[in-house]
Amino acid sequence: MNLSPALEKAYTKERLSAREAQEKAEWIAFGPIVFQASRLMIKFGILEMLRNSDQGMTQEEIVRETKLSPYAVKVLLEAGLCIGTVLVDTESDRFSLSKTGWFLLNDPATRVNVDFNHDVNYEGWFRLEESLKEGRPAGLEHFGDWPTVYEGLSQLPPQVQKSWFGFDHFYSDSSFQQALEIVFQRNTRTLLDVGGNTGRWALRCVDFNPDVQVTIMDLPQQLEMMREFTKGKNGYERIGVYGINLLDNASGFPTDRHYDAIWMSQFLDCFGEDEIFSILSRAAKIMDADTRLYIMETFWDRQRFEPAAFCLTMISLYFTAIANGNSKMYHSDDMAAIVRRAGLEVETIHDGLGQGHSIMVCKICDK
Ligand SMILES: C[S@@+](CC[C@H](N)C(=O)[O-])C[C@H]1O[C@@H](n2cnc3c(N)ncnc32)[C@H](O)[C@@H]1O
Repeated sequence: MNLSPALEKAYTKERLSAREAQEKAEWIAFGPIVFQASRLMIKFGILEMLRNSDQGMTQEEIVRETKLSPYAVKVLLEAGLCIGTVLVDTESDRFSLSKTGWFLLNDPATRVNVDFNHDVNYEGWFRLEESLKEGRPAGLEHFGDWPTVYEGLSQLPPQVQKSWFGFDHFYSDSSFQQALEIVFQRNTRTLLDVGGNTGRWALRCVDFNPDVQVTIMDLPQQLEMMREFTKGKNGYERIGVYGINLLDNASGFPTDRHYDAIWMSQFLDCFGEDEIFSILSRAAKIMDADTRLYIMETFWDRQRFEPAAFCLTMISLYFTAIANGNSKMYHSDDMAAIVRRAGLEVETIHDGLGQGHSIMVCKICDK
């Protein structure tokens, strides 16, 4: 298995002492409550008030500020000490924020992940076992009876929608500027944005390049949301739509014009390997030697830092239990193999965009 140097170091040898390993095992055993207690310490404002206090705070002061009972504050603070989000001064009995608590509170990626895991995933992950055995997103059922989360996106409860889009946008938005430079290095006048979602990338394209025409291809219900979101924004009149369900193998890519670029950002991870093969094969049918297909993904094996690979392999299990039951965050070698099977070849890979995206630039195989 190919791995980035940091991951190779982390995943090929045992690094923990027996004591550390035992501690980690207990963390796993109590993982759900470590998560919930920490999330509530954010929600109740406890971590924020500790961050803002110069001298730290006593338990009584926290009770006064939060209006929670002394019991509630006590169990949270004691758990926080052992989780490592807060510290205590044993002389004054004043609590303060630890480094971990600071990151939990202030790191934007962590906050997005906390909201996503609580609002979208937490209850559904209880049904991971069924999902793994049956290859279907059993955890999606408590939101609705759609076959995949994508059909239901526009109907999810507002808070769930907010966390889902917050998560999705956070990751892709931070890569768009570098991605624009890469895509528009070539003369790109027509771009097909496959799985264009709310149109954020399309808006960036029409803003970046005054000549480009963008077509967003997505599920029809998603396109309605996109229209609302993009209406009146700069260049929106150069954004067209093409409604499609790509799980229907008979649905082809648009042939109304030649596309210089086909863009798939955080899109192929929504599909299983056979489905990706089918989608890429259909894309290949409208490509010629001048077309480039850009696949922007967070490949877990290409991450420079271990926590990023950790997040991605955990997010794979959101796809298992909630999204669709058969997709994941891919290893880049697995994706490249499907690209080749579909009659394409990887021309270059750009790494290290935004929060750990790579762009695989593909062209029609000329052999
Ligand atoms: C994770 S979002 C990616 C959004 C966007 N490209 C980005 O980078 O933020 C995946 C998109 O694929 C669309 N999608 C999922 N399944 C689809 C299907 N079967 N046919 C067409 N589009 C689909 C979803 O509606 C959603 O807009």
